[in-house]
Amino acid sequence: MARIIFEEDGIDIEVEDGSLIQDAIAKAGASIEFGCREGECATCIVEILEGMENLPPINENEEVTLMEDEIERGTRLACQLKINGGTVKLRAAEDNF
Ligand code: FES
Repeated sequence: MARIIFEEDGIDIEVEDGSLIQDAIAKAGASIEFGCREGECATCIVEILEGMENLPPINENEEVTLMEDEIERGTRLACQLKINGGTVKLRAAEDNF
């Protein structure tokens, strides 16, 4: 089992290893919003506070949609992520646009 902590909502849930983060957000009722779900609109931009190593590497959609400094700060697109295992702690990025 993997653990996802939604910091701003105070939600802490367990999911199966390999679960989509967007499914976990829906299940938990976390306040992260989605638009395209295709990695293009950046509505779902999140800041990974812990556990980046438990997520897949940045994919092509994220490389195109995120600014380089956003990637360096540890932001990702929630719609593109699954949790491989372990714990991931995240929140909606403050510079959401
Ligand atoms: S919902 Fe559009 S990039 Fe994630």
